[in-house]
Amino acid sequence: MKLQWDLPLSSDGIDTELGDGTAVKIRPISADDGPALDASFKRMSPRSRYLRFFTIRDELGPAMLENFTDIDHLLHRAWVVIDPATAGDTPGEEHGIGIAVARLIETSTPGVAEASLAVIDEYQQRGVGRLLLDLLTSTASIAGFEKLRFETLWENRGMRRLLGNLKAEHNKELSDPSVLVYDLPIQESEDETIGALYEILRWIAASGDDSVSDDPTETVLPNQSA
Ligand SMILES: CC(C)(COP(=O)(O)OP(=O)(O)OC[C@H]1O[C@@H](n2cnc3c(N)ncnc32)[C@H](O)[C@@H]1OP(=O)(O)O)[C@@H](O)C(=O)NCCC(=O)NCCS
Repeated sequence: MKLQWDLPLSSDGIDTELGDGTAVKIRPISADDGPALDASFKRMSPRSRYLRFFTIRDELGPAMLENFTDIDHLLHRAWVVIDPATAGDTPGEEHGIGIAVARLIETSTPGVAEASLAVIDEYQQRGVGRLLLDLLTSTASIAGFEKLRFETLWENRGMRRLLGNLKAEHNKELSDPSVLVYDLPIQESEDETIGALYEILRWIAASGDDSVSDDPTETVLPNQSA
């Protein structure tokens, strides 16, 4: 079942809810998100980090943090999910901790984007993974991709279940016994709402806060005359 989007949009993101009623905010990642991403990575268990990166890793490091946050939003797009109820004083987490990230990156194969997901342990098995896949398919559709390609370790039951539920195809040619490759075709009927909102939020962020009202109905979009 697809999520039904009920979307209060403000200049800092889109408010929505998980199935259990937890309010979350989603927005494109920004170049300022390095410290928050670092903190989120450190909140993940060693097992979850291994499932995401296929290697034992204690930290992301400055170069990887920059590569993951300072992106062009064209060949490389990423959503972050924030829990506003956890807003605190830690730098980068004033609006809440980052609980998940979903990204897609264009590959050298035309029409195919490589996709990945990560949810911090405390929020796993609460429907965030499913939310992230909806974010990715809508974003891939509006960006013109025909397929999302996922690599997952064979022991990653959660990821395999998530992809299996969406009828992603096991790409046997590219898989090996430990790393399985799945292709998720992007349907023509895909709901592109969220992908379109990615573009709007990016434009708002690039324009600077002063020029944009918190009321999105008053926001002038790039293709409208000012
Ligand atoms: C894999 C991951 C993205 C799943 O996200 P999630 O928020 O836990 O998933 P959801 O709550 O949306 O659950 C989706 C489905 O998977 C199932 N599932 C999730 N985790 C599971 C687990 N550990 N074992 C078995 N099933 C699991 C859920 O029951 C649900 O199935 P259902 O809808 O048929 O009931 C998350 O666990 C994660 O980030 N893991 C660490 C990093 C990682 O593995 N990234 C993927 C690399 S490709």
